[in-house]
This record gives sequence, C-alpha cells and structure tokens, in this order.
Amino acid sequence: MTLPALTAVTHRWESDLAAHLDRSGHVHVARRCADLAELLGCAAAGIARVAAVSVDLRGLDASTVAELGGYGVRVLGVHPPADEVGARTLRRWGVSEVVSADAGFEVVEAALAVVVSEPAVRVPEAGSPLLAPADPRPAADPEGGDGGVEGRDPAGPDGGRGSIVTVWGPTGAPGRTTVAVNLAAELGTPDAPSLLVDADTYGAAVAQCLGVLDEAPGLAAAVRAADQGLLDRPALARLAPQVQPGVRVLTGLPRADRWPELREHAVADVLQECTRLARWTVVDAGFCLERDEELSFDTAAPRRNGASLAAVSAADTVVVVGRADPVGLQRLVRAVDELAAHTVAPQTVVVNRVRAAAVGRDPDRRIRDALQRFAGVSRIHVVPDDPAAVDTALLRGRTLAETRPGSPAHQAIVRLADGLRGPVAERRRRRRAHRWRAS
Ligand SMILES: Nc1ncnc2c1ncn2[C@@H]1O[C@H](COP(=O)(O)OP(=O)(O)OP(=O)(O)O)[C@@H](O)[C@H]1O
Ligand SMILES: [Mg+2]
Repeated sequence: MTLPALTAVTHRWESDLAAHLDRSGHVHVARRCADLAELLGCAAAGIARVAAVSVDLRGLDASTVAELGGYGVRVLGVHPPADEVGARTLRRWGVSEVVSADAGFEVVEAALAVVVSEPAVRVPEAGSPLLAPADPRPAADPEGGDGGVEGRDPAGPDGGRGSIVTVWGPTGAPGRTTVAVNLAAELGTPDAPSLLVDADTYGAAVAQCLGVLDEAPGLAAAVRAADQGLLDRPALARLAPQVQPGVRVLTGLPRADRWPELREHAVADVLQECTRLARWTVVDAGFCLERDEELSFDTAAPRRNGASLAAVSAADTVVVVGRADPVGLQRLVRAVDELAAHTVAPQTVVVNRVRAAAVGRDPDRRIRDALQRFAGVSRIHVVPDDPAAVDTALLRGRTLAETRPGSPAHQAIVRLADGLRGPVAERRRRRRAHRWRAS
C-alpha cells in the first residue's frame, strides 16, 4: 500500500519530482500544494502522511516543519541543485532526508524509502516554557484522536449549535486567561463538552496554563483548514486535544509574530465549527479591539485584532474581566463602554483579584457601587485575589478544579459558570457549596 503524499515545491522540477514520487511504490501524490498555507491545511485535515517540501517555500521554518510532524506527516526536504546551505537549513529544521530538486529517480526513491520507514514524530515547538509544569499532559494522538465525534449528536442544547462565551477585558493582565481556562474546565462535562480557544494574538498562554507542552497545532492550523474548506467536526477534533474529560483545547499562536495567520473571517469560521463540536466554546481573546484605520479600505488585509474582533462579534455572551484596583476599574468602565460598539450580546462583568488592600475596606461593596455609578453595571461577579490557589494551578499547569477545588478563586469561577448555565446550575452550586463547608 502506498502512503498519500503532498508536494509543495517551488522549482521548475516540481512535476518531475511528483512523477518520481508516484513511480516510487512508496507514496502516491494526493495533492500538489501551491503554498505553505495549502500544505498545512491539507496536513491538518489528515489527507497525507508524507510531504515533499522545498527549502525556499515561503514561510517554511523549524516550527512549521514541527507542525507537519504534529499532524503525523513525514517530510522529504528538497533544495535547489548544488545549494548546500539549503540542505543544511533543512537538516537544522529537523528534516533528516533531503534531496536536490533535480535528483534522479533512484535517489528520490531511496530517500523516500527512508522517509516512509521513519516514525511519524511529533517535534516539540521551539520556545518551550521556561518553567515546565512538573507533570505535562500527554500529547494528543495525531493519527486518531477525533474522540469519536463522528456521528455524535450536535453540541447544542436543543440539538443545534453550542454557545460561544468570549472572555475579554482591557489591557493590564486582568486575568482573562485565568478566567477563560477555569471557566472552560467548569462548564465542560462529557455530556456537554467545552472547547477552550486561545485567540490572543499578543500573548497566547492557554497551552502553558494547561500544561500542553508538546505543542498541539491549534487555532492557526484550524484557521488554515477553514481557509481550505477542509475544516469539519472530525478535523477540528483532531486539532483540539482533550485535556480532561469533556474539555478540549485549541491552543494559540506559539509566537506572537505569527498573528497575520489569524484572519478575522477564518477565525469566525472556526468558531462556528466549534459550536458544532462543543456545547460551550470559551474564547480567550486579546485585549485590543481597535481596527487599524489605515487598513480599513482594504478588507482583505490581516489585522492584529481580527481574532479578538471575530471572537467578540461571534459571542453569545461576553465575559468582561477587569482588575480590582483603581487603574483596573477605570479601564473596566471604559471597556464596558467600548464593547457596546462591537456587540449586542449580553455581558457578564467579572472583577478579578478583589482585595481590601487595593480598594479599601469592604471591597465588594465599593466595587459594586463604583461600577453601578460609572458603568451602569448592576450585577458583577467577584473573584477574590487568591494567589495561593492560582499560583499553584499555574505552576502545575492544571486548573483550579484539579489543584485547589473549593478554594475561594475556584468557588467564584464555579458561581460564574453556573450563572452562565442558568438557574438549575445555580441550585446545584448551592448544594456543592454546602458540601464544601461541611467538609
Ligand atoms: N484571582 C486571582 N488571584 C491571584 N492571582 C491571579 C488571579 N487571577 C489571575 N491571577 C494572576 O494574575 C496574572 C495575570 O493573569 P492572566 O494571565 O490570567 O491575565 P490576562 O488578562 O490573560 O493577561 P495577558 O494580558 O497576559 O493575556 C497571572 O500571574 C495570574 O496567575
Ligand atoms: Mg492572557
């Protein structure tokens, strides 16, 4: 049996090479890709096991080679004739078999024999965290791993689509990621699963918070697959590994300078597909919702804030997170105002890291009064400052529910999740709180 292969080769030798691949008896060419986006989209969709890729393919680098490995695609490197530097570059990126673009059939066939016998390795992304969690989660299985979604009932409560909860907030690290991660963990159950999407183009952090070190391909890959028209529920499930029963994660950009990959319309398409896979799609959105004025005439140009804008406009509910100190609260007031220009979805305001030292005695009441007066917000969720629990969870790359269930921060997130779920959940929470007190 021959393995399906992709080509993404920029040279005039491409057709000869494709013919050699087809004749080799090891592979058959499933698709000849015009550029890196198409190559990665096809790889993400799982339609190939081998790719012949030339070193000067625009955008190819160590991380995209690793990404191919992440999809279980083995790479045959191709370099221009007599280009020793190109050959070395490919090897540095982790491609062990390289051939010259004008290589004859025997050379290509021999290299392919080695490539197809290699295990489909998953290479860790460059830029591993400085402090790795003691206990990283196992990598998702790149071969299968669709979690049996094929044929399962649609995600929504009435057999329709699930809900999108976008967690957003102003600049100043108010705790968007902390809230998003723990909210997704709280909302997701095997019967009503959640999918956490890291759409922060300034500082993606969800993978690290959840100890997903063996970098999953994530949102960038899902966006590429959506662009190719190849993103369906099984393909999305393959890109979004389960981190605990009922909770999947679509990790963010491994490097912030890759933000142009997250185009607004494609992120919007991905989020719609998420609602078919999960009952709850929780999006960690970047802080900034400004549009680049100078680009506004060009609707096709990528925008740094496109992913956040897509997440806010697609939201069924926006959770607005602000920090409980004078600067954070002032920013929160402006944020609530700013959000009104982008969505009519209901807002749930969360004030995080609440402590008397930052706002004075009886901080809950003071904050409620201030937000009522200056932002017209009558109902807020308060999350206390709880470094003991939050730091432990972050250090271990786990959720609050896994590391410090019943801690003040965890209880606040549980209340928030129940508020989003509705009145039935509220009653369940009261029973659970009673049990925590009793124990
Ligand atoms: N309730 C809390 N108690 C104590 N520490 C907290 C709490 N919430 C968040 N933190 C800490 O505050 C810092 C910022 O939190 P987080 O990364 O969630 O913010 P963010 O809004 O996502 O920031 P960024 O702008 O980097 O995306 C982290 O160190 C986190 O551990
Ligand atoms: Mg964050």
